[in-house]
Amino acid sequence: MNSSEPNWPVKTREMQSHHFDSTFWNDYKFRDDDIIISTYAKSGTTWTQQIVSQLLFDGEEGLPTAEMSPWLDLRVPPKEVKLPEIEAQTHRRFLKTHLPVDAIVFSPKAKYIYIARDGRDVAWSWFNHHINANENYYAAVNDSPGRVGPPFEKPPADNPVDYFRVWLEKDGHPYWPFWENIRTWWEIRDLPNVHMVHFANMKADMPGEIRKIAEFLEIPINEEKWPAILKHCSFDYMKENGASATPLGGGFWDGGAKTFINKGTNGRWHNMLSDEDVAKYEAKALEELGEECANWLATGKGL
Ligand code: A3P
Repeated sequence: MNSSEPNWPVKTREMQSHHFDSTFWNDYKFRDDDIIISTYAKSGTTWTQQIVSQLLFDGEEGLPTAEMSPWLDLRVPPKEVKLPEIEAQTHRRFLKTHLPVDAIVFSPKAKYIYIARDGRDVAWSWFNHHINANENYYAAVNDSPGRVGPPFEKPPADNPVDYFRVWLEKDGHPYWPFWENIRTWWEIRDLPNVHMVHFANMKADMPGEIRKIAEFLEIPINEEKWPAILKHCSFDYMKENGASATPLGGGFWDGGAKTFINKGTNGRWHNMLSDEDVAKYEAKALEELGEECANWLATGKGL
């Protein structure tokens, strides 16, 4: 290429469903220092929001992180309510999205952090998220105006193994497609304003991963506050004090934020999935993602 300008992603479609309205992005007014935290879901979104808020606010305790860091493409509250609220924010903004790259509006100036997690761990986490969803959750996604398509269903299984099988068979059902999300973000991993993170690496070396995120976001770390930052991002702290970081303070789940911040571990599917299940998943990952990306998704290695 002669030009030094990268090929910036272009929006090619909308995604609208019980949860999504990607058109919110069309009216969103970017600022150059915006931070977008992106994941398929159940992959460490909330953890990363906590990390970014701790970095931005020097380890301050009790920040209303979930409120400060809205999920832009969630279709509730409606655009007319959500966008002015975000516009009114005066701090450096850090939004979350669960959309694939081709359904968002991409800014060459904003910084994007993408967090991935092995699909088997994602499905285990979805199961807990879904099985504990309460009536407020179903009312918000099904009964508020603007839903496109069928209503959001109750969990299709009462155990994680069968839940995983449906999720794999019907690509993300009943939430949204998994593979396109990983693939489209992986494809843009080399852009200068994209930083890829893996849940397994956050587990293995959270301090190291936080320092990389800080460097990417060009946020100098206040070393005096470093112990507080680490404490407030630890699993134990977030499990006990996670309400302010959890969507709606955990109000959509029986058991609240402690249900949402569940176990924080990978590999709970080992010894539960059959060899055939594992082989099916791995073959699908290879087919959908190619070897390099499938390997990164499974291990966090290779980037
Ligand atoms: P589990 O359900 O496997 O426990 P998301 O925010 O994308 O929905 O992801 C939720 C997952 O991240 C949950 O996984 C939750 O426990 C985990 N999580 C949240 N904070 C964490 C932390 N500080 N350390 C480890 N895992 C964390």
